[in-house]
Amino acid sequence: MSADLSGFAYLVASVCFIMALRGLSSPETARAGNIYGIVGMLIAVGTTLADPTVLSYTTIVIAVLIGGAIGTVVALKIEMTALPQLVAAFHSLVGMAAVLVAAAAFYQPQAYGIGTPGNIAVASLVEMSIGTVIGAITFTGSIIAFAKLQGIMSGAPITFPGQHLLNACLGIGAIALVYWFCQEQTGSLFWTIAILAFVIGGLIIIPIGGADMPVVISMLNSYSGWAACGIGFTLQNTALIIVGALVGSSGAILSYIMCKGMNRSFFNVILGGFGGETAGPAADMGDRTVRSGNADDAAFLMKNAGSVIIVPGYGFAVAQAQHALREMADLLKKEGIKVSYAVHPVAGRMPGHMNVLLAEASVPYDEVFELDEINRDFASTDVAFVIGANDVTNPAAKNDPTSPIYGMPVLNVEEAGTVLFIKRSLASGYAGIDNELFFRDKTMMLFSDAKAMCENIVKVLE
Ligand code: TAP
Repeated sequence: MSADLSGFAYLVASVCFIMALRGLSSPETARAGNIYGIVGMLIAVGTTLADPTVLSYTTIVIAVLIGGAIGTVVALKIEMTALPQLVAAFHSLVGMAAVLVAAAAFYQPQAYGIGTPGNIAVASLVEMSIGTVIGAITFTGSIIAFAKLQGIMSGAPITFPGQHLLNACLGIGAIALVYWFCQEQTGSLFWTIAILAFVIGGLIIIPIGGADMPVVISMLNSYSGWAACGIGFTLQNTALIIVGALVGSSGAILSYIMCKGMNRSFFNVILGGFGGETAGPAADMGDRTVRSGNADDAAFLMKNAGSVIIVPGYGFAVAQAQHALREMADLLKKEGIKVSYAVHPVAGRMPGHMNVLLAEASVPYDEVFELDEINRDFASTDVAFVIGANDVTNPAAKNDPTSPIYGMPVLNVEEAGTVLFIKRSLASGYAGIDNELFFRDKTMMLFSDAKAMCENIVKVLE
């Protein structure tokens, strides 16, 4: 394939990736976005394979078969709730790939057209170093993020005195080594830079608590994009440069959106310390009592309501209650009750978590609203049906300046006529804090697994 033709094909692939990102930004267009992504990737891979400089198709086919088989098994087996750690594991591979490609380019520069060993163009050495440093940081950072989310290591922030100073010194040390590497071009300097960056990757992620991990994963996603972009320059591959920049910038934007949803500054997340616990203890009830009910009570209240807003959260995902919930909502709608869904931007454990589940159950998109669109409607709604959500409804975010979630925008469920909470106990959510809404007069707790309770309500409604 001529250079012009492959350049054009890479451009088409890049346009497909931009369309994919555009499509994936809304549940309605996500399927089309996914198809654009697949087509773009096919064009990019096909164009790369058609490059006359490919040395061994056998090696490539073997690698694709092994990688494809592992990817297929993992994709089929993975639980939706474990997706954040899967994404972290995949990012670590992108990071390591960037380091290995940089090493290959360093040892065989003639194969990449960037000079000869010991005589590599300085610009290429800088690109190679950037790819190596970002790739190595992404690798170890993603492994720590994976271990924290998978429960292999504690989600609690690990901090020690002088941590930030140490990180800053190591960062400056890495820059100095890159400068030296550009002068000397030795293998030992290359690997010293890589090892230092591996250490930095671990050190910058350990102080970050479990609740902030999704933001970290999105940030590492951004890093992996920039690592790929840096390597794209080394390989002189325009598709890799464009795609790396797309991944890098979209990851950064997603991190920003998540920080906004949690009302935390990006800097604050990186400094860590919040959300060490993945699940809090049962609330200390003292002499406080809660009103609890069963499926009959819930069905009665909703059947006699004019409007119901459903608020799904992490427990909804754990219980896989989407189909039972949809059935319940259909029965309510048949009775002439207005049903809407309120989705908080950080409900669940990853961006779009609730939207994916609701879409899986074919909940009509026009019934699903973002926090800003629906928050005012709670005051004029008869029943708020909170299913497996906790932190995203906690009024402490509005009225307790000492709360770790203070300032996070929350759904105003307490303004509804009655608040129904389906959860199994009075245990706290991800932020590890109590929710005083459970004890309010107009709240009724429905202690149960979310799916089982929806199924029981369906039986009563029928
Ligand atoms: P959480 O506050 O984590 O609460 C989920 C609740 O679901 C728990 O209190 C749990 O109570 C209940 N639950 C668990 N399994 C259940 C089951 N099988 N059936 C019924 N209930 C069940 O969830 P949320 O309100 O969705 O808030 C999300 C949290 O994650 C926030 O703190 C947010 O900041 C954090 N976070 C999210 C993201 C993204 S991108 N989504 C990113 C960073 C941080 P029981 O144990 O009593 O049942």
